[in-house]
Amino acid sequence: MAGSASSQQGPRLALALAVALLLLVAAAFAFAFTAASLPESAPILAADIPSAATEAAAALDAASSLAGEALIESYQCSICHIQGAGRVAPSFIGIGERAAKRRPQMTAAQYLYESIVSPGVYLVDGYANAMPANFARRLTQAEIAHIIAHLLSSPADPRQ
Ligand code: HEC
Repeated sequence: MAGSASSQQGPRLALALAVALLLLVAAAFAFAFTAASLPESAPILAADIPSAATEAAAALDAASSLAGEALIESYQCSICHIQGAGRVAPSFIGIGERAAKRRPQMTAAQYLYESIVSPGVYLVDGYANAMPANFARRLTQAEIAHIIAHLLSSPADPRQ
């Protein structure tokens, strides 16, 4: 009887290996699927921006301009986005109004979203591609929405 038992071990081992392999593949798929559905870990590609911008625009309903102001402060956007001489980036004053006109096919919120997560896609005339490109990873969607809410509420430039 020992002989017949050992003669079955070959196929059993093969079956066990096949099942293990299947489980491994299933686990890999499950992992890939979970990773893909986590918004923060997925890099935002230029091609995804219209839909991502729409999501951010929807998140705007719950956004707070005050929270956005605090985020702009803590992420030190104003190191570059200052007013007056010596600035390396456009001023935020009146940006809500300008943002609506920058890209005709985009709303102001969509344009601001793109400017933050993918600043190299559209460069404001006269400025270099000098804005850090990693804010898409450093900010959550909700934080981006707060910032957009604040920029949209920025009053028009009194000098204009
Ligand atoms: C190291 C400098 C630098 C920092 C820091 C920086 N930016 Fe910028 N930003 C730029 C430059 C330069 C431009 C103009 C070129 C372009 O359009 O990308 C710009 C453009 C923009 C625009 C479009 C402005 C317009 O008038 O159309 C927005 C919106 C913006 N930045 C938001 C932010 C926010 C929000 C932060 C902080 C979370 C930030 N930036 C941090 C350099 C910077």
